Amino acid sequence: MDNNSTKGRDHWGSKLGFILAAAGSAVGLGNIWKFPYITYENGGGAFVLLYLVCILCVGFPIMVAEFLLGKISEKDAVGCFGIFRPDNKIFKFIGIIGVFTGFIILSYYSVVAGWTLEYTLKSLTCSEFIVDKPDYSSPELRKAIFKKYGTFTPAEKSEILLKAGFTAEAGKQAEQNSEANWKTLFESNDENYVSLRAPLIDQVVEKARAELGEQKFEESAIMMTKQHKASKIFGEHLGKGGSMLFWHAIFMIFTAVIVYGGISGGIEKASRILMPILFLLLGGLMIHSLTLSGGIDAFKFLINPDFAKLNKHSILEALGHAFFTLSLGMGAMITYGSYLSKKDKVTSSAMTVSILDTLIALMACMVLYPILFTYNTEVSAGAGLLFITLPALLAGSSGGSIILTVFFILVAFAALSSTISLLEVVVTYTNDEFGWKRKTSTIVNSVVIFLVGVPSALCFGGNKFFTELTLLSKGDAKLNWFDSFDYLASNWLLPVGGLLIALFIGWMIKDQEKHELIKEELGSSFYPFWNFLIKYVSPVCVAIIIANKIGLIE
Ligand code: TRP
Repeated sequence: MDNNSTKGRDHWGSKLGFILAAAGSAVGLGNIWKFPYITYENGGGAFVLLYLVCILCVGFPIMVAEFLLGKISEKDAVGCFGIFRPDNKIFKFIGIIGVFTGFIILSYYSVVAGWTLEYTLKSLTCSEFIVDKPDYSSPELRKAIFKKYGTFTPAEKSEILLKAGFTAEAGKQAEQNSEANWKTLFESNDENYVSLRAPLIDQVVEKARAELGEQKFEESAIMMTKQHKASKIFGEHLGKGGSMLFWHAIFMIFTAVIVYGGISGGIEKASRILMPILFLLLGGLMIHSLTLSGGIDAFKFLINPDFAKLNKHSILEALGHAFFTLSLGMGAMITYGSYLSKKDKVTSSAMTVSILDTLIALMACMVLYPILFTYNTEVSAGAGLLFITLPALLAGSSGGSIILTVFFILVAFAALSSTISLLEVVVTYTNDEFGWKRKTSTIVNSVVIFLVGVPSALCFGGNKFFTELTLLSKGDAKLNWFDSFDYLASNWLLPVGGLLIALFIGWMIKDQEKHELIKEELGSSFYPFWNFLIKYVSPVCVAIIIANKIGLIE
């Protein structure tokens, strides 16, 4: 059975088609959603440099390794290990972890991808997000104004706290306690605190109004109200179980239809359409963003390295993200590589894919940051960046609804070209290892993955049981189904998978003939360089992340 499936194997129609498909796998929510916000949180330029080093020293060599494993074996992510080491079945486990990881990632990735479809529709009119007049009596707005414009010195703070009845404490803890008390005073719903803080908030509101002038003050208040509204809309969106399931299902159906069409007839064709459009839309939006007044500042933020902003978490984050964004560590690139023709060389393809992926991530930053800088928003660019901050900033501005719509279409395209690669890993596996037909593989796997994703769609309020269910915990935080899967996959399974793949190809291949094949593929000048990276540099880097996660090193 195994041999038969190799013989009739589908192939990419052209090298360009393969590159577009692999770039499509790499370019996804990771580039357009996650990269901009982790870069923002880690201070911009310096993090970008760190990330580039990770892509070059770890990501790129592992991508070459995955392409080679696939191309030489012409097998799925599990079977390829059997071709390179037929004597020992244990190595197939690396691939089994990979296929399992693909399953897990796709189940929740499709849920988020579904949101982008619903948000595309919302953006067409933007009506929900628009605010004409701020309601100055709303407690949320008053609190937001207080947060933004209330500047108190520590001495003033402690005086206020003392008056409010909090006792002053001395020693190391004092500062932390006063922060906590301050929070209690301004966040708690206790009536006592509410009435205590009311005059203070009034004071700040009036001071801000006087200092900014009526018009500026109103603009600022509208913006805050919009942000509040957008965050409420997002919360309601997450809580609607039925529509979350609907969009999750729609996205899985799109994915399945493409994968059903096969390699050259489905994935390659789709990538040839999706990727150029994505690139053009992103380029267009970037040009528009650069004309905004915050454009220059955004550009400076992205290229000026400020190393003081980096910490040890930044390094881990950069390395972990390098795996996720290049779709490494679980056999996606092994699978795509297995459909390469013998004549196509892998090194230049891996280089092009890594460059395109990085370019698109940087372009996404240059679309988003100018908007953030122009509106000088206080909102942190966290996970709410796409679904809260962006609609809040753009709704009601000139052309805002068009820009938002184009943006969400683009994110949906990026997500779709990634979900097809995730499904293809599982489909190629069941085809090659169990001899299933593509039709059966696609349908069965999509349905099962959809079902595994159901709790991810319902755990944000859509269903009581799944909302309350916690699977894992991370420090003190209890993780729901969605977050547990994301945490498990991006923080553990991908880095461990990547480490094992690097160790396997660097150290475990005994067969001289296979070494010769690899050398021949890479060329005599590149081979030693790659060999050094894959044998020593990549495994050591990845082992450091893992050791740090386990708590072996601080
Ligand atoms: N690389 C994609 C992104 O950046 C996600 C993705 C697609 C992926 N296929 C993968 C991640 C395989 C890991 C493994 O969004």
